[in-house]
Formats: sequence, structure tokens, C-alpha cells
Amino acid sequence: MYRCQLCAGELTVFLDLGRQPLSDRFIAPGDPEFTFDMRVGTCTACTMVQLTEDPGCDRMFHHDYPYRSAQSVAMREHFERTAHRLASRYLNNPGASVVEIGCNDGTTLQAFDALGIKHLGVEPGGRVAKEAAARGLRVLPEFFDEAVGARIRAAEGPADLIFGANTISHIADLPSVLRGVDRLLASDGVFIFEDPYLLDVVERTSFDQIIDEHFYLFSACSVSEIARRHGFELIDLERLPVHGGQIRCTLARAGTRDRAASVGATITEEQARGLATPATLTAFAHRVARTRDDLVALLTRLRDEGKHVVGYGATAKSATLTNYCGIGPDLLSRIHDSTPTKHGLLAPGSHIPVRPAEEFTSPYPDYALLLAWNHAEEIMQKERAFHDAGGRWILHVPEVHLV
Ligand code: SAH
Ligand code: TMP
Ligand code: ZN
Repeated sequence: MYRCQLCAGELTVFLDLGRQPLSDRFIAPGDPEFTFDMRVGTCTACTMVQLTEDPGCDRMFHHDYPYRSAQSVAMREHFERTAHRLASRYLNNPGASVVEIGCNDGTTLQAFDALGIKHLGVEPGGRVAKEAAARGLRVLPEFFDEAVGARIRAAEGPADLIFGANTISHIADLPSVLRGVDRLLASDGVFIFEDPYLLDVVERTSFDQIIDEHFYLFSACSVSEIARRHGFELIDLERLPVHGGQIRCTLARAGTRDRAASVGATITEEQARGLATPATLTAFAHRVARTRDDLVALLTRLRDEGKHVVGYGATAKSATLTNYCGIGPDLLSRIHDSTPTKHGLLAPGSHIPVRPAEEFTSPYPDYALLLAWNHAEEIMQKERAFHDAGGRWILHVPEVHLV
């Protein structure tokens, strides 16, 4: 039996994605690989959806962590808009400060800095933290937890805003993060985080959002419950179109701020759609298996017809997709990606070679599986010559189809 990391309630397992590697650990030939059993369950007490096994943060967020926020123009714009919005709403007082958990290459922090706001980033990826510091940003190269929150408070004073994008759902020891936020946050401050939204994952069958790093899949229901258990209140919610569907949650200390109508409305919508019910999650698991079967059948047929098929976007998500489906270099000869830290290496588990995006053109393949489907607009626009030359994109969300 598996227990919830947050409330020790019993987990009901609804999805088994098999043996999986670390999704952001691109390897050289012969390198040893860590793997773990990826099963997903929902807590019968607090409704939080989570992995049953924690692969360990030191393994995932290592010195050479390869992901860089700035690789997507759309995400750069999103984070710039976010910084402006949050600053004008929550950081109006002179001397107001922001702490970002998981600042990565400093894309968001730089926008706060440009507005003259006192900032600090917390980022354990040694190499990426150095890159952010080289941009003139203040970065603490550590894992945020209760002790670090207390230490920052002692050194810098309280934070008016604590922000985390695509990071808070990654941390299995979320209770320690919430205690750290409690130590660090000003009495009237807000803690804002944005992460993949369970409703979008279920409704789009985007099961590749489930990766080692996405330990939790948040819903309004589960976040509201966990906030309450730690003395906070979920006071605002916003759905975001980025990364295939996300939710931005705003927490404040209980009773300090008004609750926006969006919170109740979203919880009501989740209940109306039966988001936390076993029937919904079991139906989701069946659709996941169908996507796998359809995708493998398509790629196998194309290979047998002698077509050249590659992947595009060596995303963390693609580790779940390729390893769950058993897709290797025989079905996808290589994956093109714009991130220099991934080039020349093999994709985790599948061992498909990762090549620069520039090599996509020489010569164009017949088909490209868009592994970075969350950046479809940006990538299809950038690579429109591929489509113009007769190439076809393969997408697997919300179901397998060609574009
Ligand atoms: N915020 C960026 C990066 C997301 S990737 C964006 O949205 O694009 C997740 C980042 O969180 C990684 O850079 C990882 O090193 C960092 N991280 C993971 N655990 C953390 C922790 N406990 N404290 C701070 N950062 C953490
Ligand atoms: P993400 O889905 O986790 O943001 O990862 C996207 C990956 O796709 C990342 O490795 C960068 C890559 N990418 C490209 O190769 N070209 C692009 O135009 C974009 C936006 C991303
Ligand atoms: Zn629970």
C-alpha cells in the first residue's frame, strides 16, 4: 500500500507507466542509468495526485541539469508578462522583495530585476545557477526547504512574494517547502506557483506531463486542502495556456486576504467533471493505453514503409512517452532540439541520439513526431519549410493525429 506524501492518506493507484529513467538525464553511450517504477495514485484523503515513488531530488536536479527556460520565445514572453503583472499587483511598496524558487537560468528573475525589485533566486542546478548569476542576478545555489527559508529570512528579511514556476510540483517534500514559505513570507505576502493542471492532463490525455520531476499533479481541490493544512489559504486561481495547460495558484496566510471567485468556481467545475473520482481516472488510464497502441502502430507502419521519421524537442516529457511506448532509435532515428547542453547525448531510456535543431533540414525527414507539442505554434512556425516541403507532423495529444 502506498501513502500520500502530504497527509499520509492511502493512495489509489490508477496508472502504471512502467520502468522510467530520469527525464532530464541525457547520457553518453555506456553511462549507467537510474530507473524507477512510475505509478500514479490519488490520495483518498486530500485528493492530491502523485507518484508512488520519489526518484530523489539530488538525482534529478544535478549539477548539469540541462533544461533552460529561455529556449522558448513564448515562455520568455510569458515570464516577462508574469513578472510585470505580479509586480504591479503585489510589489508596490518601496523595498518590496521577491524570492523565486527554481529560478533556473534567471529568465523571470531578470524581468523583476529590470523593474528595480529586490530579488533572490534559489536554484540547486549548479551550472544553471552560475549562468543566472552571470546575468548579474542574485542566486543561492541550494534546494529550497524549511531551513533555507528560515536562513533567507534571517539574512534578507521577509519576502513579499515567493514565486515558483514548474518547480513546486517537483518537490516531493512539499510540507518542508510550505514550512519554509511560512518562515520566509511577510505577514501579508503571497506565495504564487504555476504547474501542470490535472484537469488539462486528464482531458487532453497528455500523460507525458507525468515525469519523474512532476511528482504532484495539482488541482484546485488538492492545493486548497494542502494549503489549509499548513495555515495558508488558496485565494486565487488562474488557468494558463502555456506548457499544455497549467494552473497558477496564489496562497496567502489564512484570513489575511479576500478569496477570489475563481477558487470556488474552479473547485465546483472539478467536482462537476468528477476529476477526483476513480471512474474518471480509470477512463484516463484507458485512453493512455490507446494512445500508446495507436502511436506504436503508426510508427511501425511508417518504418515498414521505409519512411524516415524523427522526433522534435528532446523534452523531459518525451522520456515518459518513449519509454512507456517502447520507442527507440529503430522507430525514431534521432531527436532534434535547440538546447546545446543536450546535443551529442542520448535521450534517457530510449537512447535516441539528440541532434541540433539546425540539422533537421539536412535532409528533411518524411515525418516528425512533435515531442515538444506544448510549443507547437512556435516550432511549426519556425520549421514551416518542413511542412511546405511535404513533411508531416505527428502529434499524440489529445490523440494520435497528423498535421
Ligand atoms: N522556473 C523555470 C525552471 C523550471 S525547471 C521555468 O519554469 O522554466 C525546475 C527548476 O527547479 C530546475 O531548475 C531545478 O533545478 C529547480 N529545483 C528543483 N527543486 C528545487 C528546490 N527544492 N528548490 C529550488 N529549486 C529547485
Ligand atoms: P519543455 O516542453 O519542457 O519546455 O521542453 C521543450 C524542449 O524543446 C527543450 O529541450 C527545448 C526544445 N525546443 C526546441 O528544440 N525548439 C523550440 O523552438 C522550442 C520552443 C523548444
Ligand atoms: Zn493526501
